[in-house]
Amino acid sequence: MDYDYPEIARAITSMIEQNIGPLLGTEKAQTLVDTKRGQTNYIDKIAEDTVITYLKDNEIECQLVTEESGLLSEGNLKVILDPLDGTTNALLGIPFYCVSLAFWGEKKYGFVKNLCTKDMYEAFEGGPPLKNGEKISPACTESVASGYIGKGFLKVMPLVDAWRCFGSLALELSYVAEGNLMALVDLREKARIVDIAGAHIIAEASGVTVTDEKGNPPFAGEFFRNGKFVGKKIICALPDLHERILNALD
Ligand code: IPD
Ligand code: CA
Repeated sequence: MDYDYPEIARAITSMIEQNIGPLLGTEKAQTLVDTKRGQTNYIDKIAEDTVITYLKDNEIECQLVTEESGLLSEGNLKVILDPLDGTTNALLGIPFYCVSLAFWGEKKYGFVKNLCTKDMYEAFEGGPPLKNGEKISPACTESVASGYIGKGFLKVMPLVDAWRCFGSLALELSYVAEGNLMALVDLREKARIVDIAGAHIIAEASGVTVTDEKGNPPFAGEFFRNGKFVGKKIICALPDLHERILNALD
């Protein structure tokens, strides 16, 4: 059975907003609590539990791939979730964090909601990419990009005039899709499928290329191994700049 992915994404996100809203700015938000796979901040746990409860109450048959708990249940549909991408920002009161969702079913659909501005980015695979229902385009007028430092970063640095680093990969990829940034380069080998699955679909729908440092799709193969999410390097830019970044790293 297939579902209305945009409707589910919106419903899930509003419930997360309702449930984490009262926690923002409180000490309780930062308290460490146990999960199936270790410890996390209370705010992350509340956000994830909200989604688990929603999917169960609405009898949505799927495998949930989620940051805190890993893989939950089975189903032909995969729902890939980061219930709060940019937790450090949220805890510090830095207004740059979001909910990130991808649906891999009969179709692929990505959804990212900036919880600070309330902007919603979404796309089905193949496009069009939308922000609040309006088509977006990745043409960026300034030489500005987001960069996470790792091996080879010095070789890439001269390709862009101004580097930034905002702390939410899902939003940064959405910014590349929208043309606010000309690239996202993360060379730490730490990006996980939950961080980027939603925005990956949106970015590709806009014509942007998203790969690892070798030019391969980052999560075409294994994304979860021995109870842990696999970490990847991510290069995201329009094809011409993307190729120049890969060449610089070669
Ligand atoms: C983090 C954000 C951030 C990236 C970290 C991630 P989280 O996700 O995506 O941009 O630098 O590696 O862990 O933990 O806030 O969901
Ligand atoms: Ca998270």
